[in-house]
Amino acid sequence: MERRIISTEIQEEDQAQEFSLRPRKLSEYIGQEKAKQSLGIYIEAAKNRGESLDHVLLYGPPGLGKTTLAGIISNEMGVNVKITSGPAIAKPGEMAAILSGLGEGDILFVDEIHRLNRQVEEVLYPAMEDYAIDIMIGKGQSARSIRLDLPHFTLVGATTRAGLLSAPLRDRFGIIHHLEFYTPQELSVIIRHSADKLGVTIDREGAYEMARRSRGTPRLANRLLKRVRDYAEVEYEGKITREVAGEALDLLEVDKMGLDSNDRLILMTIIEKFDGGPVGLDTLSAAIGEDAGTIEEVYEPYLVKNGLINRTPKGRVATDQAYHHFGQKREMEE
Ligand SMILES: Nc1ncnc2c1ncn2[C@@H]1O[C@H](COP(=O)(O)OP(=O)(O)O)[C@@H](O)[C@H]1O
Ligand SMILES: [Mg+2]
Repeated sequence: MERRIISTEIQEEDQAQEFSLRPRKLSEYIGQEKAKQSLGIYIEAAKNRGESLDHVLLYGPPGLGKTTLAGIISNEMGVNVKITSGPAIAKPGEMAAILSGLGEGDILFVDEIHRLNRQVEEVLYPAMEDYAIDIMIGKGQSARSIRLDLPHFTLVGATTRAGLLSAPLRDRFGIIHHLEFYTPQELSVIIRHSADKLGVTIDREGAYEMARRSRGTPRLANRLLKRVRDYAEVEYEGKITREVAGEALDLLEVDKMGLDSNDRLILMTIIEKFDGGPVGLDTLSAAIGEDAGTIEEVYEPYLVKNGLINRTPKGRVATDQAYHHFGQKREMEE
């Protein structure tokens, strides 16, 4: 699928910016009230007892703040964080080396944890449960396994695809949070904070217009802010108002509902190829060439939440609102 400005996945130019815009403390993290409140309590309790925090699993679509939250947890705990990702660790020995290199209380952040291979994952089971790893020494008849103690560390796992996590791995997380899409109000606050940090002038209405069109996703809101700032500087005197934001976003072809190109492809496929549905997930997946699980866990939640798709027992259906959004008329059945 094509990558455009409206994609919520991380792009190269986001990297440096995300670092500077990333909140460092729980109190600076906007929204996700449930996750924030309970993590705050667990962190305080663990610190008071002088223990490491229980293992944390964060899941939800890209750009909602999983990596940010992992950084905040390490900051609030006052410990080091080692960052890796599922596809980066090929062999069990590499995972064992990373684990034995951790200090007491440290955090190991594993991004895209659903992409760990089975053998590597199995190293994590005793590590998470007993703070130990089993290492095989010797070969053939004389091979035996010895148990090596690890420091009390905290595993923070992040995934966009909770459905791909194996049960034994998922069960070993004591704290599990699903990150939700942000409301326009929450995104407005995030946009205004980011504008402050970037030295951009924006008024309330300007921030709200941008928030409405950012697909509930802070990563996208921050990226659009940069583009809209450019527009405001060149075409106006730099200030972002509702009018400026609206014009700039129209020019960028950012959808009024903040839909991205994949959202549009999914909806238009249901409408045009399948007469609005119902269409089964697998059929839809084949038609657009995207993995069914990714459609279900990454794209659909936003579309369902915003009333554009209904999930029915017979399959996915485009709603009247979806037709209306694309200026399409539903063909009536005879
Ligand atoms: N709750 C939040 N409050 C403020 N900014 C946020 C929040 N969540 C995410 N962001 C911003 O969005 C960017 C993307 O978040 P990130 O943690 O990288 O998402 P994920 O890891 O879920 O893909 C971050 O750099 C940060 O600037
Ligand atoms: Mg991330």
